[in-house]
Amino acid sequence: MAARFGAVADASDALDPTRIPRHIACVMDGNGRWAQARGLPRTEGHRAGEHALFEVVDEALELGVEWLTVYAFSTENWRRPRDEVRFLIDFNEDILLRRRDELNERGVRIRFVGRRNWRVPRRLIRRMDEATELTRRNRRLTFTIAFNYGGRAEIVDAVRSLIAAGTPADKVDERRIARHLYDPEMPDPDLVIRTSGEYRISNFLLWQLAYSELYFTEVLWPDFGRRELVAAIRDYQQRERRFGAVDGG
Ligand code: IPE
Ligand code: IPE
Ligand code: MG
Repeated sequence: MAARFGAVADASDALDPTRIPRHIACVMDGNGRWAQARGLPRTEGHRAGEHALFEVVDEALELGVEWLTVYAFSTENWRRPRDEVRFLIDFNEDILLRRRDELNERGVRIRFVGRRNWRVPRRLIRRMDEATELTRRNRRLTFTIAFNYGGRAEIVDAVRSLIAAGTPADKVDERRIARHLYDPEMPDPDLVIRTSGEYRISNFLLWQLAYSELYFTEVLWPDFGRRELVAAIRDYQQRERRFGAVDGG
């Protein structure tokens, strides 16, 4: 392990193995523009994004990142043209079928966050459940796919679930809300990466991002890869996380 960290370019470039973010979350953006720049249909950009995604998974595994969460389809993405929505649903299903065994063999635990009972085709739900079940004993990396995910919808769903559980108003606190989120075990992201030069959150993990470090890059998602991930982590390692406190306090 040490050799690998030392081997990255020169010593000043090497990552600090003791400060690898535990949870990295990615807003995989820019697929459409990547395709359009090549005179291709937008869907070819989504297709090209698969390579970037698995480069990131590979690097996360090598670096010992414990949680990796990716934004695959938002609650707002239903506003896209019907054909693109259909492509994204089919493509996500296809990726799950093609990749689940290899992910399983590499110790990856696959999970999903998002609104399951609204608009998502039953067949895709079934594939998600199969992938979750197949990989549920793995511990090396938890790879969470945010599908039909919206941060506000998640908070609404958490509140509904609290009320349905009969929680009295004076028992509602941050811990309890967190326990009713889609995946109560998911730690807050340490580092959030957004590609494609857009400087916004777009309804991703609103509750969990309270103190995450944000990293924005102009690189379009299909061009993102291991080097870009290492660059983001290097930037993260330069940050000082204070969580509202005072240095050395
Ligand atoms: C991100 O790429 C993928 C999804 C939102 C599903 P986009 O499709 O948003 O690409 P741009 O932002 O239009 O270039
Ligand atoms: C965010 O990207 C959603 C995903 C990456 C799945 P969008 O492309 O949908 O976000 P906006 O519309 O630019 O904010
Ligand atoms: Mg976009």
